[in-house]
Amino acid sequence: MQAQESSRREWISRGEADTVELAGYFAELSQPGTVITLDGDLGAGKTRFSQGFAAALGVKGVVNSPTFTLIKEYQGRLPLYHMDVYRITQDEAEDLGLDEYFEGAGVSLVEWASLIPDLLPPARLSLRIEHAGENGRIVHCEGIGAPYARWVADLPRQQESNQNGEPEDGKA
Ligand SMILES: Nc1ncnc2c1ncn2[C@@H]1O[C@H](COP(=O)(O)OP(=O)(O)OP(=O)(O)O)[C@@H](O)[C@H]1O
Ligand SMILES: [Mg+2]
Repeated sequence: MQAQESSRREWISRGEADTVELAGYFAELSQPGTVITLDGDLGAGKTRFSQGFAAALGVKGVVNSPTFTLIKEYQGRLPLYHMDVYRITQDEAEDLGLDEYFEGAGVSLVEWASLIPDLLPPARLSLRIEHAGENGRIVHCEGIGAPYARWVADLPRQQESNQNGEPEDGKA
């Protein structure tokens, strides 16, 4: 088997707006069959990312955490399949038939995807959000395979001021 091409970058988020900006960038690039996985602690911003992503995809209305429903479907420029696999076992997840979604006409966003490693497609955009203070986050982006490796390699450069570690709201 050939090794998959991959690229990694960190996106510094100083507040929700930066997370939403990143979500918008990836939403623009999305196409039928796009798979994006989201990991990170409770409250890291996986759902906030998903909301920004949905808005950029043209979804109208409220996008909530699908923790109890497991999968919610929305319609934007493309269908959006928003999943949260936090509460299920790998066995239960197998019965959901996730491949149907991953290979479907829409975009799949999977919160807590690292809990079901064996069920994920090899080519995907993997995002891991790490807390860095109250409103700061580091989004570790890894694009595995085409076209995701290119998406990550082409991430826009962020403003210099992002690197200063200044709190966005001015609070110490
Ligand atoms: N830079 C940031 N990016 C994203 N969210 C942020 C940021 N700073 C603060 N927040 C806040 O962090 C919270 C993130 O909550 P969210 O529900 O998106 O987390 P989650 O990763 O989905 O958690 P869970 O695993 O419980 O579903 C929100 O209240 C949001 O306002
Ligand atoms: Mg969530």
